This record gives sequence, C-alpha cells and structure tokens, in this order.
Amino acid sequence: MRANLRLLLLLPVFGLIACKEAPPPAPPAPPFRTILDLKQFMLLVIDPAADGVWDSVKTVITKKGTEEIQPKTEEQWMAVRSSAATIAEAANLLMLEGRARDNKEWMTAVRRLTDTAEKAMKAAEAKNPAAVFDAGGEIYEACRGCHQRYAPQLDTATEAVKK
Ligand code: HEC
Repeated sequence: MRANLRLLLLLPVFGLIACKEAPPPAPPAPPFRTILDLKQFMLLVIDPAADGVWDSVKTVITKKGTEEIQPKTEEQWMAVRSSAATIAEAANLLMLEGRARDNKEWMTAVRRLTDTAEKAMKAAEAKNPAAVFDAGGEIYEACRGCHQRYAPQLDTATEAVKK
C-alpha cells in the first residue's frame, strides 16, 4: 500500500519530466506556397502594377508639344483601378513568413504601400486624374522608403523604375 502511494506521488513528477523532454511540436506547415523570391515578386507583380498607375496620368513633352495623358474610357479607368488594387493587395503578400524581413519596420513600410495604393484606387474610382497622379507620387515614396531601408543598393534603380 505504502509503495503504491509513493508511486502515485511520483507519477506526476515523471509526467512533468516527460513533458519537458519531449521535443517541441513542429510548427504546422503554412498552407500557402510562394513561388517567387522577393526580387521576382517586385519585378513581376509590384512593378508592373505600379506602372499601371504611374503611366495612366502623365504629361509627355515632345518636340511637337505637350500631351496630357489620362484615362478616358471606362476600360482605361478600370485598368488603373485594377493596377492600384493589385498593389494594395499584393502588398499583403509581402507580409508572409519568408518574405517579411522583420516584424516591425517592414510591416509599417508595407502598410504604407497598401494605404497609398488604396488612395490611388479610390481616385480611379472617382475618375479623378489629379488625385491619381498625387497618389502615384505617394506610392513612389512608399517604394523608395522601403528600398532605402532594406535595399539601399537600389535607390538609383528606383529612380530609373519611375520613368
Ligand atoms: C516593404 C518593402 C518594399 C516596398 C514597399 C517595395 N519594395 Fe521593391 N524591393 C524591396 C527589396 C528588399 C528589394 C530587393 C530584393 C532583392 O534583391 O532580394 C526590392 C526590389 C525591387 C525591384 C528589383 C530591382 C532589381 O533590379 O533588383 C524593383 C523593380 C522594385 N523593388 C520595385 C518596387 C516598386 C515599384 C515598389 C512600389 C510600388 C516597391 N518596389 C516597393 C522592398 C520593397
């Protein structure tokens, strides 16, 4: 009887030790499967979408004179909305584990991209070329801000990106 009692008292202790020694459970594998590295993501997803906003409203100066470019047809406005929406939502994919460089400043930089792209999207919804242009400038600053911090070697490249 006495021996049994001792055994009972010891059991929980063994239980604890066993728990402590068990290897930590492996974190569950994420359900998503990314296929682009960050540079490819920028070149294939973010950059073309940004061009869709930047190229939509601009002033082209040639020898023949000045031409104001802006969306005119429903389809053209829709294309600007789509580009801006793509940036805004694709930015969220920059927050995925494996892409995010850290959990703080990176996230802030990404949110800035989403916020400025949302502005462009709303401006396109309102068919307001001046507001699209301004939001485009803010998007550009969001790109630049992050590159200066996380890819300083690109700073001049970013200048070239926005033509
Ligand atoms: C949250 C941070 C972040 C934001 C915001 C961001 N980028 Fe990037 N971008 C990077 C990083 C980091 C790299 C470098 C990736 C590498 O080379 O591994 C990069 C690389 C690039 C490249 C590749 C340049 C090259 O040839 O190596 C392009 C183009 C680019 N970004 C365009 C953009 C544009 C356009 C925007 C805004 C619409 C933008 N990026 C916003 C972080 C960001």
